[in-house]
Amino acid sequence: MEILPRRNQKCRSNGTAAILEKSNDLLSGRVEVKTLYKVLLTEPIDPIGVKLLKEHFTVDLAPDPKEETIVSLIGDYDALVIRATKLTENILDAGKKLKIVSRHGVGQDNLDIPAATHHKVLLTTTPGANAHSVAEHAVGMAIVLMKRYGEAEKLLRDGTFNQPGSLTGLLSKIGFVNEVLEGKTIALVGTGAIAKRVAEICHVGFGMNVIGYDPYVSAEVMAEHGIKKYETVEEMLPLCDVLSVHVPKTPATENMINKDSFAKMRRNAVIINTSRGGIVNEADLAQALCSGQIAGAGLDVFSPEPPLLDNPLFSLENVIMTPHIAAASDGAMYNMSKCAAENILEYLEGGKPRFLLNPEIYVPVSEHPRRG
Ligand SMILES: NC(=O)c1ccc[n+]([C@@H]2O[C@H](COP(=O)([O-])OP(=O)(O)OC[C@H]3O[C@@H](n4cnc5c(N)ncnc54)[C@H](O)[C@@H]3O)[C@@H](O)[C@H]2O)c1
Repeated sequence: MEILPRRNQKCRSNGTAAILEKSNDLLSGRVEVKTLYKVLLTEPIDPIGVKLLKEHFTVDLAPDPKEETIVSLIGDYDALVIRATKLTENILDAGKKLKIVSRHGVGQDNLDIPAATHHKVLLTTTPGANAHSVAEHAVGMAIVLMKRYGEAEKLLRDGTFNQPGSLTGLLSKIGFVNEVLEGKTIALVGTGAIAKRVAEICHVGFGMNVIGYDPYVSAEVMAEHGIKKYETVEEMLPLCDVLSVHVPKTPATENMINKDSFAKMRRNAVIINTSRGGIVNEADLAQALCSGQIAGAGLDVFSPEPPLLDNPLFSLENVIMTPHIAAASDGAMYNMSKCAAENILEYLEGGKPRFLLNPEIYVPVSEHPRRG
C-alpha cells in the first residue's frame, strides 16, 4: 500500500492536524487488502472511516485537494471520498474507473450532480451525521447573542465593574439587560435534520416557541418535533426573536434572506446562519446590523469562503463569527467519516448504498459500466 507524497503538511480544510496524523498512521499501516478496488481521499477524514475502508480496499490520501491533483490521480481509483473539494466535470471525466463518490457531510453545493449522473457515477452523502453538532452550534450562537456575553465580558475586562458599589448600581452601568430564551420564538428556515434538532433543544430545553418554514415537510412531521408550520418565511419574520437558517444552498435559497426580510423583523431579533454563505445577503445584513434594524447575527458560513478580511461584518460588535466549524466537532467528524466509508463499502461489496443522491442510475457494482 502506498501513501501518496504530500505537497503540504497542513490540512487545507476543516480537518484537524491530529486527524491528519492519525489518518496517515492508518494509511501507512500494513493491512491485508481483500479486493482490488482502490479508494482515494481528497482530504483527511477521522480514522474510523480510514480503518473501515482499509479492511477491504487499497486507500490513498491525495497530496492536496486541488482539482488538477485529483484529476491527475483519479484514473486509478474506483471510489472517491470528498469533503470540501468541488466534484467537477473534469474529475468525473478523468475517473475512468470511478463508480462512486462519497460526500463526507450533508451539503451538496460542491457536487455537480447532473455531471455525475451523466458519467454514471453514484453519489452519496451522510445525512444527519452532523445534525447534533451544527444544531448545538446554532443554539450556542443564539445564547451568546441573547445573553450578550461578548458585551458583558468586554465591560468586565474594561474595568467597568472594578469599582466599589452595590451590584444594582454596577448593573445599571451596563446599560442593557440580557434576554431569557424561555417564551421567546425561534423561526427555522428549512426544517431538515439540523433544524429538527434545534427545535428539540429550544422547545424542550428552553421552553421556546418554535415555528418553521419548509415546503417539503408536512405540518404533522414538524409538530412531532415541536415546530408550528408556516407557509412563508415572510409570515414568520415579524414574530421571531431568533431566525435560524437551515436550508441547502440552491438557486431558490440564494439571497433568500435579504433587506426586505430584515425590514420585517423585530429590532431585538437575532439571525443565525450555519447553513451556507450567500443564503443570507451579507451586505444587507451588515446594513441591518449597523442601522439597528436587527440586534445581532451569529455566522458560521460566508460568501466567499474563506471570508475576505474587509468584509464589513468583521468590524461589527453585534456579530459573532466562526470559520465554518459547526460540523468540525469530535462526534460529527467521527459520524461523517464512518458513514462516508460505509456508503462505499455497501456499494463495492455488492450492495445498494442507503444514502444515494442519484438512485436512478444505480446498478450493482458487478454491472457498473466503469468496471475498470
Ligand atoms: N456549517 C456547517 O458546518 C454545516 C454542516 C452541515 C450542514 N450545513 C448546511 O446546513 C444545511 C442543512 O443541513 P441538514 O442536515 O439539516 O439538511 P437536510 O437535507 O436534512 O435539511 C434541509 C431542509 O431544507 C429544506 N429545503 C430545501 N429547499 C428549501 C427551500 N427553498 N425553502 C425551504 N426549505 C427548503 C428541505 O426540505 C430540508 O428539509 C445543509 O444543506 C448544509 O448546507 C452546514
